[in-house]
Amino acid sequence: MVSKALSVPILFAGSALVLFLFLCLFVPVFFDLPSICYTNPRNLNRVDNGQIQFQGGINSITQSKEYSERENHGEIQFQGAIEPIGPSREDIEWVKDQLQRNSLGEPPNTTEGWHALRKGINPRTRAQQLEDLTKFKGISHYEDGTNDHTALPCPGELLVEEHHSNYGEPWAGGRDVFEFLGSSVKLKPGDLVLEIGCGTLRVGLHFIRYLDPSHFHCLERDELSLMAAFRYELPSHGLLHKRPIIFKGEDMDFSGFGSGVTYDLIYASAVFLHMPDALVWVGLERLASRLRPYKGRIFVSHNIKFCTRLRGEECAQRLKGLGLEYVGKHTHDSLLFNHYEIWFEFRRSESGA
Ligand SMILES: C[S@@+](CC[C@H](N)C(=O)[O-])C[C@H]1O[C@@H](n2cnc3c(N)ncnc32)[C@H](O)[C@@H]1O
Repeated sequence: MVSKALSVPILFAGSALVLFLFLCLFVPVFFDLPSICYTNPRNLNRVDNGQIQFQGGINSITQSKEYSERENHGEIQFQGAIEPIGPSREDIEWVKDQLQRNSLGEPPNTTEGWHALRKGINPRTRAQQLEDLTKFKGISHYEDGTNDHTALPCPGELLVEEHHSNYGEPWAGGRDVFEFLGSSVKLKPGDLVLEIGCGTLRVGLHFIRYLDPSHFHCLERDELSLMAAFRYELPSHGLLHKRPIIFKGEDMDFSGFGSGVTYDLIYASAVFLHMPDALVWVGLERLASRLRPYKGRIFVSHNIKFCTRLRGEECAQRLKGLGLEYVGKHTHDSLLFNHYEIWFEFRRSESGA
């Protein structure tokens, strides 16, 4: 028998439990309201002053209005933060203002001038840094001779970023290419992009960051470049979760990417000029049907010698035979250095679309 003194608290606790379950389960499920006990996926986002804020999860991400949400079999998938494709006028003004506020005037135009700015630092060249790394293995390191502490041991040559000088052009130019191509095709995170000859991902990194996982594909022939991409660039930029699909190959064989895949953008940055014309044509023939009808574009940089070397109307005719047409020539400037790049745009012809 429960004594009278105990029955009142038990009754009280029981009613509290019933009320709790009612608020937790019944109300949210039947009235589609936020639960106080768990997070209803439909209430994950809250629109606040034009910004969508994600609650919960490991990271709370504040996103711009461009945030995209995809409904898939009744599930809402939340994408990562979407970065803007190019800097706005306000961004440029902001950085100029920061330089001024911090009294960072015109940069010196001689090497001596640059070196005179050094205070309390011990700059090393890449070669010296590599030597230090090999000799001293960094300031603090394990002596037991195993790599057990490092999940992805990276060669010193990559750690000192030797590969950033692979192409003789500033590494920063990769961002310019991304911004030009991305804005030309009005790129969206859900688009599919193929790069032919992505090298060390100088350009590709920016696409990979921007696009949904596995939406960046690349065929690259050079082992050293692929090593740099997988062993250094992707992990050091925190982009492993983007699972880009990158294959080694040099014969324009795109079958590994799947048969029904169509791309919103296919580009070759400083690649076709290094290839035999015949191989470029083989590639174009295989790619024509992989271009998304109407929207899809092929962009080729520097020159289209594979085309201009042909006589008269032959190039246009050959393109037509593949269901492609030339759209036009573009140039874009660099944000950081005095440089412009030339691009040639192609699309599926009406008959090929
Ligand atoms: C000048 S690099 C440009 C790399 C990268 N697109 C960029 O803009 O930073 C040219 C790249 O094309 C690759 N390449 C050349 N011929 C190729 C082929 N037949 N198939 C795949 N990649 C090729 C080279 O290995 C090299 O990585």
